[in-house]
Amino acid sequence: MPCVIAVPREMAESERRVAIVPETTQKLIKAGHEVRIEHNAGTGAFYPDDMFEAAGAKIVSSRTDLFRGAQIVLCVQPLTVADVDQLAEGTIVIGFMNPGRNKDAIIRMRDRKITAFALELVPRITRAQSMDALSSQATAGGYTATVMGAAHCPKFLPMLTTAAGTIRPATVLILGAGVAGLMAIATAKRLGAVVEAYDVRRAAGEQVRSLGAKFLELEINAEGQGGYARELTPEEKVKEQEMVSSAVARADIVITTASIPGRKAPVLITRDTVARMRPGAVIVDLAAESGGNCVLTQPGKTVQEHNVTILGPLNLPAQIGFHSSQMLSKNLHSFLGLLLDKDGMLVREYTDEILAASLLLHAGEVRHGPTRDLLGGGVP
Ligand SMILES: NC(=O)c1ccc[n+]([C@@H]2O[C@H](COP(=O)([O-])OP(=O)(O)OC[C@H]3O[C@@H](n4cnc5c(N)ncnc54)[C@H](O)[C@@H]3O)[C@@H](O)[C@H]2O)c1
Repeated sequence: MPCVIAVPREMAESERRVAIVPETTQKLIKAGHEVRIEHNAGTGAFYPDDMFEAAGAKIVSSRTDLFRGAQIVLCVQPLTVADVDQLAEGTIVIGFMNPGRNKDAIIRMRDRKITAFALELVPRITRAQSMDALSSQATAGGYTATVMGAAHCPKFLPMLTTAAGTIRPATVLILGAGVAGLMAIATAKRLGAVVEAYDVRRAAGEQVRSLGAKFLELEINAEGQGGYARELTPEEKVKEQEMVSSAVARADIVITTASIPGRKAPVLITRDTVARMRPGAVIVDLAAESGGNCVLTQPGKTVQEHNVTILGPLNLPAQIGFHSSQMLSKNLHSFLGLLLDKDGMLVREYTDEILAASLLLHAGEVRHGPTRDLLGGGVP
């Protein structure tokens, strides 16, 4: 028998995304599944209930009715402990799990024998590209960061030749050229700015140049495991600070996206560097959530220091909720393609490389080593 798929309204503060959009809902219904959407689940992303209803979904008012008998729950942010208590043993939950910040819910899911797949654990292999929610949401974040930076900057970004004089183009500097950084570069180029970028991974240089931006070279290549960056040595950090400081000082907008998986974000912009910046310059610190790339960043706030506006936005993809939900919805639909066979039945074995890598909890066990270590101490 095909599945009952439930989509709750997101409860986290300022979360506006929804796990699936009407287009995906229609595909799932066409494949024979029942799709239940909690009342107002899509409102924040501008997918009202009637769009889901037109796609064939059942709109459900209470969370208890939503979860009753559901085999699959699709969510953006992790469920709460109270939600988990309403799920039957063996229910499959798919979404971002963020175990470091949601230990209680993860422990409760483990103990209630929920099967949880974490989107952030989907391996970044070619076959999994359509399921790579980290990338789709980083794309949304990178775009939004540039647009926010431009909105706070008291200058035009493009060069203008007008009867009222010639305007020089603004300089935008991107620190960290991963998925979000590359999207920020592309957006700033489209707005007509002169764009410079820096990353500790030398491989990023080619991608930066292919977008028409200048890559700032440092005699360091800190490419670590799996294509991610490793932490720099103390000597490398001093060299990096010197180069970054001069580049930051000549920029009108700086967008920082540097992060190292599982670690606090590296500090790239000190108070002294901010003091060297041009009056009216803007910093958009995309790493605000993991400590910030600028020491003066205040997570979730916009502050002014030394005539520089510093933005520390949290959960940027939620700000562009319509499209970030659309992309996430495609990611989840592709992922479901691995979990459901051609008859719409749930597969029993999670031997597929992508399913195995993203399986966080199953049958009362934590299947992901680092999460097991994280929960190790103090678990009842
Ligand atoms: N399907 C795929 O093949 C696929 C998809 C997405 C990403 N990737 C790769 O995964 C890797 C990580 O991408 P991400 O966007 O998730 O990265 P991320 O969010 O973990 O980090 C953002 C960027 O910050 C950089 N960084 C770290 N420390 C820095 C420092 N001190 N100074 C400057 N920059 C610093 C990293 O090198 C990275 O490019 C990249 O190599 C990317 O190309 C592969």
